[in-house]
Amino acid sequence: MKTLYILFLFTIFSFYYYSSSSLTNQVTNEFIILINSQSHIYILSQIHNASTFIPTYIPLLYTHSYISSISNWYAIYPIFSSIIHQYPQLKWLFICEPQTRMNLIELIKYAEKSKDFYIGHGLYDLEPSIIHHYSFSLDNPYPDLSSGILISRHVLTLFIDRLKSYTKKIDFIIDVKYELNQLINELTGIKLLDRSDIFCNKYKHNCLTWFDGQYDYSCQRTDIQLDDLYIGIKTFIDFHNTRIDLLKKTWLNDKLNYNLFTNEINKTIDNKNERFIILKENTERGHCHKTFSILNYFYENKENFQYLIIVDDDTLLSIQRILRLIQCFMLSNDIPIVLGERYGYGDYYDYPTGGSGMIFNRQAVGQIISNCQCPLPDTPDDMFLGLCLKRINIPLIHISELHQAQPNAYSKDWLDHQKPISFHKFEGINVEEVYQTYLHEEPSIEIKYHHEKDEF
Ligand SMILES: *[C@@H]1O[C@H](CO)[C@@H](O)[C@H](O)[C@H]1NC(C)=O
Ligand SMILES: *[C@@H]1O[C@H](CO)[C@@H](O)[C@H](O)[C@H]1NC(C)=O
Repeated sequence: MKTLYILFLFTIFSFYYYSSSSLTNQVTNEFIILINSQSHIYILSQIHNASTFIPTYIPLLYTHSYISSISNWYAIYPIFSSIIHQYPQLKWLFICEPQTRMNLIELIKYAEKSKDFYIGHGLYDLEPSIIHHYSFSLDNPYPDLSSGILISRHVLTLFIDRLKSYTKKIDFIIDVKYELNQLINELTGIKLLDRSDIFCNKYKHNCLTWFDGQYDYSCQRTDIQLDDLYIGIKTFIDFHNTRIDLLKKTWLNDKLNYNLFTNEINKTIDNKNERFIILKENTERGHCHKTFSILNYFYENKENFQYLIIVDDDTLLSIQRILRLIQCFMLSNDIPIVLGERYGYGDYYDYPTGGSGMIFNRQAVGQIISNCQCPLPDTPDDMFLGLCLKRINIPLIHISELHQAQPNAYSKDWLDHQKPISFHKFEGINVEEVYQTYLHEEPSIEIKYHHEKDEF
């Protein structure tokens, strides 16, 4: 299917090339577009939709094409030096998302008028954020990749040069756009020029770039429904009447197929709830044993289910949006696939961070449990999974609508152009209010359970 698709893309490109070659533009390789991409046919088809607007004399690069040569390719800056080597004539690099749209002619004109620059749509934190290591400054914006970032050759070459002698250790990759900005600031001394007026993250008249807000994972695959999903929730006796109650007041309902994996039941409140599964080992932190117990339980006892979702007892979800995600991404039961919010551990490996929810198909679960075993019961589960996925060569697909923290940890301007799928942690928020504001959807007619179909 993939090969066919690439052939198809190639045909379209060639057609476009011949039909547009009467234009005066020739290949100069001075203006280059780098798309923050991933190797999945759904994402590639979005890029294909975008690329029909891009003439073939503009080189179009994909971050994921560096996957085999650069381990932390998804942090973007590690591939800068390869790009400069590949395109020595490069004058401007435009980095954007698959759904970024642009008025290319005007954007290039704009670039040609400017000299040394680093320009985009500035995002601002309103308070110190955990995902930015609590570093905080009101007057130093970081770019929204959705609007694209324009970087000049000068900034790039300075950056590459100084990165060679940069000795500070980069432990965790959490928020790529923020960390990229920090590193550019630190290495080149150049700050982002915030031109939100022309680098837009929503469509407006006179924008050079904008974000196609139509993107909300609607693939209309009615063969996968809510009752094809199985949910494993990691919990602990102390939270049964607090966090689990809040889950039940928000997204968790009895129609869903789920179990609560815990250490012990509370006889006064839990005895009638047969959804509990009691595990031998109790770990308060680093849930490797718990997560692998869920993987094993799913694989051995839930043979009729193809899809597994693992969440914490303080993860807020939109289960409808999870379903839509699965309808778009789980295209084959034979190909292992894992969806999550990608964090990176240096240049060693990336992993689906646990709190925002991890999504697997059966094939992936089978390969994980037959190839990897927790080193210790309390090894961090998500990081160990990342290591395991790397070992067995299953690429993780990053979903930027999954969130490891509460809404206020993210720029509002950035959250505004997505439909969030999850948030995590209950501290400092009104749980039900956050759920209603960001995640609740009235069930639509397409979202139904198989067993309800008969009733229509
Ligand atoms: C690509 O564009 C076509 C036509 O507008 C649309 O039907 C299709 O859903 C788009 N694909 C994606 C993945 O957005
Ligand atoms: C069990 O639940 C009761 C009622 O909510 C609570 O008061 C008690 O502390 C719980 N016991 C344990 C061991 O968590």
